[in-house]
Amino acid sequence: MAEFSLPKNSKIQQGKHFAAQGAKQPRTFRIYRWTPEDGKNPRIDTYEVDLATCGPMVLDALLKIKNEIDPTLSLRRSCREGICGSCAMNIDGTNTLACTKAIGECGSGDVKIYPLPHMPVVKDLVPDLTHFYAQFSSIKPWLRTQSPAPADKERLQSPDDRKKLDGLYECILCACCSTSCPSYWWNGDRYLGPAILLQAYRWVVDSRDEDTGSRLDDLEDPFKLYRCHTIMNCARTCPKGLNPAKAIAEIKKLIVERRTG
Ligand code: SF4
Ligand code: SF4
Ligand code: FES
Repeated sequence: MAEFSLPKNSKIQQGKHFAAQGAKQPRTFRIYRWTPEDGKNPRIDTYEVDLATCGPMVLDALLKIKNEIDPTLSLRRSCREGICGSCAMNIDGTNTLACTKAIGECGSGDVKIYPLPHMPVVKDLVPDLTHFYAQFSSIKPWLRTQSPAPADKERLQSPDDRKKLDGLYECILCACCSTSCPSYWWNGDRYLGPAILLQAYRWVVDSRDEDTGSRLDDLEDPFKLYRCHTIMNCARTCPKGLNPAKAIAEIKKLIVERRTG
């Protein structure tokens, strides 16, 4: 798994230490803390958690810390089932979902937890995804059609056409891949990044969509698409086992085929 650098504002200092008195099974978590309004540098707070009274996932430990030790810790989460994508963060050097990452899968030392790398931070483990969502919106992620909708049924798709969406529809927009991509770190203002390009491809290959040409026209741009240099961090880190690099390669292939065909 790839290791990633600290967040941009990384003049990080040691913060508070919360000891777990009498813990039967102590495990130490070192967590990035930052509140922009404080005007102070970020710090790392250290929390000892008794795993004997904690669920098995990193999210369980974070919620135990928040509920029982330090209510000021901020994080996002909703489904706790790997479906909403909101608990994405950098755990033990890898971007992943706190709710599906087992504490037992982390390395033997302290468990280090940071927000997703190279994103502005709202507070603590909460990244600001405003730009990421605006990029998602820019690809018009819905079925675009010109033909009238059938009167009494859905727009149908053959089983084979439906299969083309496997490996794409499962994307939960957690941003783990985009924030692991060096090209996105440096050109994220204009490069769409692996998550959004995988989503774009999901609509390009949907047999029911009638706007494929203009979708490809929109993507054919040196910055939006061609900043991908096949570094593959995206596929290595995706917690859903998806391969955005492959989707990007397929878009490039379709653009070439269109030009030469
Ligand atoms: S491709 Fe994977 S890592 Fe990227 S946003 Fe989708 S689910 Fe998350
Ligand atoms: S393969 Fe492309 S999108 Fe994926 S990490 Fe590398 S440069 Fe980024
Ligand atoms: S809480 Fe929804 S993916 Fe983790």
